Amino acid sequence: MSDPRALLELAEDIAREAGDMLLAKRPTMSEVVETKSSPTDVVTALDTASERLIRARVLEARPGDSVLGEEGGEAAGDSGVRWIVDPIDGTVNFLYGLPEWAVSIAVEVGGEIVAGVVNVVPRGEVFTAARGGGAWLGGERLRCNTGVPLSQALVATGFGYLRERRAVQAQVLASVLPRVRDIRRGGSCAVDLCSVASGRVDAYYERGTNYWDFAAAGLIATEAGARLGGLDGRPHSNDFVLCAAPGLFDELHDLLVPLDPQRDA
Ligand code: IPD
Ligand code: CA
Ligand code: CA
Repeated sequence: MSDPRALLELAEDIAREAGDMLLAKRPTMSEVVETKSSPTDVVTALDTASERLIRARVLEARPGDSVLGEEGGEAAGDSGVRWIVDPIDGTVNFLYGLPEWAVSIAVEVGGEIVAGVVNVVPRGEVFTAARGGGAWLGGERLRCNTGVPLSQALVATGFGYLRERRAVQAQVLASVLPRVRDIRRGGSCAVDLCSVASGRVDAYYERGTNYWDFAAAGLIATEAGARLGGLDGRPHSNDFVLCAAPGLFDELHDLLVPLDPQRDA
């Protein structure tokens, strides 16, 4: 009933179905501009539709499970299995027609994430991991980059939606940028973590993401050999997510801590 491989298979089917629906219904920018409601309303409607579809499919297959989704909150079940859903991660990219957005679904058993899928829909790439079974992009097993010194590291990051927090994030970035190869701001936390897993970037850090942003992709990154954590020995959380191969994790951590990146003003 709670075999990680079976849960992953179901999660993957559902993430593909939601992705296909979103791709078919995604409005073009001109339609968004012409619509009477605000551009964000269009996106919100599809965020909600995607999450509704995912919840329906999960509960059809497994009526006793709990679901936590960004749009619909928590619906409690009694099976000990919980699904964590971001129906569109990278909403702004979705709105602008940029290819970095994803459907993200993780599955917890007894509070531990055992399966994760990130469907990067426009790229036709589905990243998956089951605990202990490695991270995969289709049939290709993923390994994060190792042995990269901080000065050579390509580092992904992101910014929150709050003004005050962004001002701090910009200050922190100003100190990080001269110390690394370069920075990428892709626009989806889930895709960024999958990029660490697949070696498309060397590291990722961000303040203020939510559990549904990193639940699935965090497992994919760790199964690809990356270390995932917070600052000062704390676990990764909404406060801070840092992810890189172990040596680079430590170097980036030690650069970030004195910058006090968890303050909001
Ligand atoms: C956002 C993306 C973005 C990150 C933000 C998230 P959303 O999620 O993951 O990359 O920088 O912190 O809120 O709003 O597109 O689901
Ligand atoms: Ca998100
Ligand atoms: Ca979202």
